[in-house]
Amino acid sequence: MICDNITVKDGILYFAGQNTVELAKKYGTPLYLMDEDKVREKCRAYKRAFEKHFGPKAQPLFASKANCFKRLYEIMTEENMGIDVVSSGEIYVVKLAGFDLSHAYFHSNNKTDEDIAYGMENGIGYFVADNVEEVKAVEAEAARRGITQKMLLRLTPGIDPHTYEAIATGKVDSKFGSAIETGQAEEIVRYTLQQPHIQLMGYHCHVGSQVFGEDIFERAAVVMLEFLADMRDKLGFTAPVLDLGGGYGVRYTEEDPYLDIETKVGEVAAAVKETCKRLHLELPEIHMEPGRSIVADAGMTLYTVGTVKKIPGYKNYVSVDGSMADHIRFALYGSKYTCYVANKMDEPAGFEATIAGRCCESGDLIQTNVMVPASVGRYDIIAVCTTGAYHYSMASNYNRLPKPPIVMLRGGENYVAVKRESFADLCRNDV
Ligand code: LLP
Repeated sequence: MICDNITVKDGILYFAGQNTVELAKKYGTPLYLMDEDKVREKCRAYKRAFEKHFGPKAQPLFASKANCFKRLYEIMTEENMGIDVVSSGEIYVVKLAGFDLSHAYFHSNNKTDEDIAYGMENGIGYFVADNVEEVKAVEAEAARRGITQKMLLRLTPGIDPHTYEAIATGKVDSKFGSAIETGQAEEIVRYTLQQPHIQLMGYHCHVGSQVFGEDIFERAAVVMLEFLADMRDKLGFTAPVLDLGGGYGVRYTEEDPYLDIETKVGEVAAAVKETCKRLHLELPEIHMEPGRSIVADAGMTLYTVGTVKKIPGYKNYVSVDGSMADHIRFALYGSKYTCYVANKMDEPAGFEATIAGRCCESGDLIQTNVMVPASVGRYDIIAVCTTGAYHYSMASNYNRLPKPPIVMLRGGENYVAVKRESFADLCRNDV
C-alpha cells in the first residue's frame, strides 16, 4: 500500500489498524482521519536523526502551515518539538495548546505591526525576518517594549528545487527572503547587526516543498554556509544558527519514492560537516522545518459516493460529498493522490473514473483517472490517502460547506480532535 499504516482485511480498507467503513459510519463524511501514532513516529524519527547527526542542540521545527489544530500542538509539546508559525492565528492556536512559545519561530514575508506586537506579547522565541522593512518594524516594537528580540534572516540561496512552481521558494526572484546573489542578503545582515534591540542569531532558507531532488538540500546548505563564512570574514559575525527550512517530499502515489528521514538528514549533515570543515567553521546549531513529511501520511480523507455519471465515449464521474473546499490541492496544483473504494477492496478495479467534488465548479475534482471497481455506486466510501498535510489547513467554506471534523486514531482507539462545523458556525460572524 501507499503507506505502512494502510492495510486491507476482508475487503475493507483499514487505516492505522482501524476499519475505515466503520469510522465513516460512526463520524459521518466527509471526514479527516489523523493517525496520531504516525505523527509521533515521524517526530521521533526527526528528533533522533537530528541528535545523531547534528548533536543535542539541533532541532526539528514542525511547520504549522501543513496542519494546525490544538490537539496537534499538544502532541508537538509532548514530543518536545519546536515549531514554526506564520501568523497570529497560528500563534493563538499554539498558545491554546499550552505550547512553550520560546520554541517557536515566526515566519511570513509580511508581518503586520499587530502580528509583531502579538508575537512579542506571547514570548515568541525567534522572529524570522524576510526583509529590511520587517527588521525595522521588529526593532521598533522591541525598543518600545525594552526587550532584545532574537532573530533569523530569511535568505534566498538561488536554488531551484524542481517542484511545482507555486511551491518553489528558494529562487532569486521569489517573493520570499533576501537574495544572496543580489547582495541584498549582505545588506540586511549589516543592517540587522546595527539594531540595538535585535540579537541576530542566524540565517534561514526554504527552497521549496514536496522536494525529491537528489542534492537540493545539500546544495542549499553549502550556499548558506558559504554566506555564513563570508559574513564572518567581512563583518566579523559568525552566525550560531542555520535553519534549512522544510520540504521533503512524501508518497502520494506508487510512483513517488519513499524518503527515509534518517537517511535524508544524514545526507544533509554530511554536506554541512564537510563544508564547515572546508570553511573552518564550527558546526552551527542546525534547524529544519518539516511540515508535510511529519503529517501527510498520517492523514486520510473519507467521502461517501453520491452519484455515478457515465458519459459514453467520454468519461465517468463518481461524485462524493466532499469537494475542493476540503481538498484544494488538485484544483490548485493538479496534485496526484491514491484513492480507494474502502468497502470494495477485494473487487477488481477495472472502471476508470474522475472523482468529483460537490462544488458548483467544473475544476472541483478530487482526482482524475482513478481505477475503481465497476460496481461503484451510492453509499460506497472513497478513501483519499496522504491528506494529513495542507488539507485541513487550506480548507475553506466555499459554497457554504461546513469543514469536516478531524478524528484522531491512537492505538486502536479514536476520538474527535476538531468537531464538524455546524451551519450555525458558518454564519457566526454574520451580523
Ligand atoms: N518552512 C517554511 C519557511 C516554509 O515556507 C514551508 C512551506 C515549510 C517550512 C514546510 O515545508 P514542507 O516540509 O511542508 O514541505 N500549500 C502547498 C505547500 C506550501 C508550502 C509552503 N511552505 C501544498 O499544498 O503543496
